[in-house]
Amino acid sequence: MPRPPSIPLAPGALPVLGHAVPLLRDALAFTSSLPALGPLARIRLGPFSVVMACDPDVTRQVLLDDRTYDKEGPVIERIREVAGNGLSTCPHSSHRRQRRLCQPSFQGDRFPAYAEVFAATAEASSIAWHTGQHLDVTREMMTLTARATMVTIFSGELPADVVDRSIDDTTTLVRGVFRRMLTPPLLSRLPIPFNRRFDEARARLLDVVATIVANRRADPTDHGDLMSSLLGAVDDGATLTDAELADQVLTFFIGGTETAANTLAWALYLLATHPEVQDQVAAEACAAGGAGSPPLDGVTGRVLTETLRLFPPAWLFTRTLTADTELGGVELPRGTVVAVSPYLIQHRGDLYRDPDRFDPGRWVDRAPDRSAYLPFGAGARKCIGDRFALTEMVTALHAVLRRWRVEPLSPEPFRPAVEATITARGLTLRVVARDAAPAVGEPSAGAGCPA
Ligand code: HEM
Repeated sequence: MPRPPSIPLAPGALPVLGHAVPLLRDALAFTSSLPALGPLARIRLGPFSVVMACDPDVTRQVLLDDRTYDKEGPVIERIREVAGNGLSTCPHSSHRRQRRLCQPSFQGDRFPAYAEVFAATAEASSIAWHTGQHLDVTREMMTLTARATMVTIFSGELPADVVDRSIDDTTTLVRGVFRRMLTPPLLSRLPIPFNRRFDEARARLLDVVATIVANRRADPTDHGDLMSSLLGAVDDGATLTDAELADQVLTFFIGGTETAANTLAWALYLLATHPEVQDQVAAEACAAGGAGSPPLDGVTGRVLTETLRLFPPAWLFTRTLTADTELGGVELPRGTVVAVSPYLIQHRGDLYRDPDRFDPGRWVDRAPDRSAYLPFGAGARKCIGDRFALTEMVTALHAVLRRWRVEPLSPEPFRPAVEATITARGLTLRVVARDAAPAVGEPSAGAGCPA
């Protein structure tokens, strides 16, 4: 791969390992330090040299030109080892067609029905909690988003033990893919326990996915969901193969579960540590009443906007240049890998006052700036599930906070585990029933809310 000229190399690179040590030790601090080097900085992921976009305009230039900055190259290859060649990993040449195929499931008219599933799933998850319980928040939220994704996108439910195992396997893959991005490709072929666990997790998830595909092939009903669109799709006279269908199911299962679950977990953590904001969200939840699509522009929406600014799950992604191109004042050769980081941009002190502080109030009367706020990316590859995720997360927060108060167990700040996503794995909070909450097991429309 060609080495880009005249771009400062970030300090701390080692032979062979590149910047794996600072990235594995504290990826977010390392990434936040890069803008000091200029609009572009060079980092090394294992043997690969990567140009990091450190400036909002440069980042936007990369994201908006999806033909020149394509999903190709060694880093995307590692992600394809997990998610295959579905909508989020496919190259530009097949992207428009795939996106057209998937888009109907994300049209506005679907959202009232989705909101009902989200509310029922969140109710079902939280109804069994009890006062004083120490809740494994991220796990609970993973279960919630995995179920909601299965029901809304694939009209299917999986047995509880399969959901549980699939969540573990998804976690193993998301954790593993980041390590694989940082280390030489040869290491991932060694028969060590880490690689064995990764391969086994992928094989088990593929098994689950193959069953979903087989069941739906055997069922001619048009469910009007993503799977029905995919099964009915014809390309050059042929329908999609089982392998192509499996890639999409895996893409949407992983993309729809992990990201929203971690955002919800972070939002609950931030609300637990800011009880006055939590009370406002609970009041909004009670006023919204739990039916239909919830408002996305109230205090709950602002809390999620701020959570996604502070902890954007997709914090780093890459593109590869398909032609020689000028970026940030430097001529870059074809084949250069460029990385962009919503985390880096959203923590710049010149774009956000006191950037590490949780302050949902900063979004009152201020819409997120398109260059400075990128949790869902931008351009043609922008997240297809952005509105789906926001509706799901507002609904889930409302369902939980109508009934429960969340409290931190320790005054110590909780630290993220940074992998392919910024995760809140291991976050535990205490839940306490709100004053007027009915006994466990009673129906809960309006539970916990003043009469
Ligand atoms: C908080 C929740 C979410 C966040 C922060 C998030 C973030 C992102 C980001 C940053 C991208 C663009 C990556 C790139 O440019 O390389 C993306 C793409 C994508 N996301 Fe999401 N996502 C979320 C939820 C979801 C959900 C719920 C689904 C599906 C149900 C989903 C499915 C996808 C897919 C399929 C793509 C690829 C789109 C394309 O290339 O056309 N995401 N997401």
